[in-house]
Amino acid sequence: MYVCICHALNDKQVTKALENGARTPASVFRHYERQVQCGKCVPMMRDMVQSHCANQCPSCPSHAATQHPPSLPEPANTENFPYGIAAE
Ligand code: FES
Repeated sequence: MYVCICHALNDKQVTKALENGARTPASVFRHYERQVQCGKCVPMMRDMVQSHCANQCPSCPSHAATQHPPSLPEPANTENFPYGIAAE
């Protein structure tokens, strides 16, 4: 199944990036030396990160974030994402 249409990244490729240490959609893009374009895939990638990280690494900061999500400030580059989506 394609996750990112802009870069033709499928779920297996995203999972492989997660297995190699990617923990954000932006790091998945970096893994494949790509940059987010339209951003429509970011919510699905976030869901995949949370599923991948659930109960895997108790010491990982992203695990703690899934247990007690902090209220994060808006990223500085939101003006580049008309849908309010940032990849970090
Ligand atoms: S669908 Fe991934 S950047 Fe557009």
